[in-house]
Amino acid sequence: MSIKLSSGEEIPIEMHKTRMVQKIQLVPVDERVQAIEEAGYNTFLLKTKDIFLDCLTDSGVNAMSNNQYAALMTVDDAYAGSMTFYEFAKAVEDVLGYKYVMNVHQGRAAEHLLAKVHAKPNGVVPTNYHFTTTKAHIELQGMKVLEIYYDDALKTESTNLFKGCMDPKKLKDIIKKYGRDKIGFVRMEATTNLIGGQPFSMKNLKEIKQICVENNLLLVIDGSLISENAYLIRQREKGYENKTVAEIVKEMCSLADIYYMSGRKNTSVRGGCIATNNLKLFEQIQPWLPVYEGFFTYGGMSMREVGAMGVGMREMVDPDVAGCSVEQIKYFVNKLVKAGIPVVTPPGGLACHLDAMKFLPHVPQLQYPAGALAAALYISSGIRSMERGTISMDRDKDGKEVYADIELTRIALPRRVYTISQIEYAIDRIKWLYGHRKLVKGLKFVSEPPVLRFFLGKLKSLDNWEKDLAGAFKKEIGSC
Ligand code: F0G
Repeated sequence: MSIKLSSGEEIPIEMHKTRMVQKIQLVPVDERVQAIEEAGYNTFLLKTKDIFLDCLTDSGVNAMSNNQYAALMTVDDAYAGSMTFYEFAKAVEDVLGYKYVMNVHQGRAAEHLLAKVHAKPNGVVPTNYHFTTTKAHIELQGMKVLEIYYDDALKTESTNLFKGCMDPKKLKDIIKKYGRDKIGFVRMEATTNLIGGQPFSMKNLKEIKQICVENNLLLVIDGSLISENAYLIRQREKGYENKTVAEIVKEMCSLADIYYMSGRKNTSVRGGCIATNNLKLFEQIQPWLPVYEGFFTYGGMSMREVGAMGVGMREMVDPDVAGCSVEQIKYFVNKLVKAGIPVVTPPGGLACHLDAMKFLPHVPQLQYPAGALAAALYISSGIRSMERGTISMDRDKDGKEVYADIELTRIALPRRVYTISQIEYAIDRIKWLYGHRKLVKGLKFVSEPPVLRFFLGKLKSLDNWEKDLAGAFKKEIGSC
């Protein structure tokens, strides 16, 4: 939550106390230059010994609660029939309202099974926006992803509180154009990761549901960040201000035929699940579970994580959990906006996103501005962020670059991990970097995997710009 100081300023306030800590270190700038060079200018390939604040992602790195740790110790480790699974299933029923659930080892495993079971030859999957792994699995099944957001969703600076909405008119057009038999399913991602953690409204979800019902189409919710989306609905949508996050999550889930999530995000563990109230849909997927994941009552997860996920499922609808990174992101984004730095607005869930094309207008898209900015941020701060732009798109089948709609450098805020002083440090270093942005140039691939290249691809800097940036840093700030 946030709290008003006597000065009138509002700051995010932690509704928890820290009782276990992990030491971190800030290595000197010359070592940071060496580390990013060795990592091929790919922040995924950095080692944590060289990282100060790890803002790569919120996936699998949130702080768990004391009750989640307790659950790790009390689980029933049976291969089949574990009571821990049934306790997890009860939490899913209580929180999400679904009778049938299966675990999978993480979110993309759910995407794999859903795309496999609902694949249509030469089919399409309309979505409010793609996520990297979702797109890969849908395309591996021979289908195409169609993104049908409203026209202003890609405007990084905006006052639209629900940029994650799907355009119902475009969905109707797609149904007309392709025919319902070619549509694998309709997918709503709560919140839309790649356009800056932007939520959709309940009103929009209801409209999309209505179209799905009229056309006999399956509506799938990717609920990896559903509690953030619900928290933002509560803050932003008329009629929801007096509902609880728990009520909003349940209402959202009641509109989906199938729900899946990466449990690495909202439930702060390492795992995932698929849930539904439709037994037939459940039984279409379930036989594949032991083939790809594991027996039905563990689904490829450690039983300990299933236990902690059940607790995390109940805790994620607590507004202090659902809102903790949302409030920090709001603080972070608003301070950068005040400093005139181009970031995605309004602030959403998951991360503070720098608009790399506006931050580095002199770096052409073919030279990967979002990747260059992530590397430059690391050099000037020791903060690890993630490229969410053209590097995160794979080439088309003819080997041509597919340009991302927007080039974002994502500074994720895992839940209950970092403090306001650490965020203040990030703000300061981003301001310094913005003042020296002309020193940053582009990147070029040296090795490039054919699929999801952003994970393992290696690049190098053009004109050794990192030396100039590190030189300016040392002169003005010092070695750390
Ligand atoms: N859906 C969304 C919306 C996601 O953000 C992610 C993962 C997945 C599916 C896949 O889940 O990683 O458990 O297999 N997002 C992470 C991120 C990787 O850093 O944003 P997973």
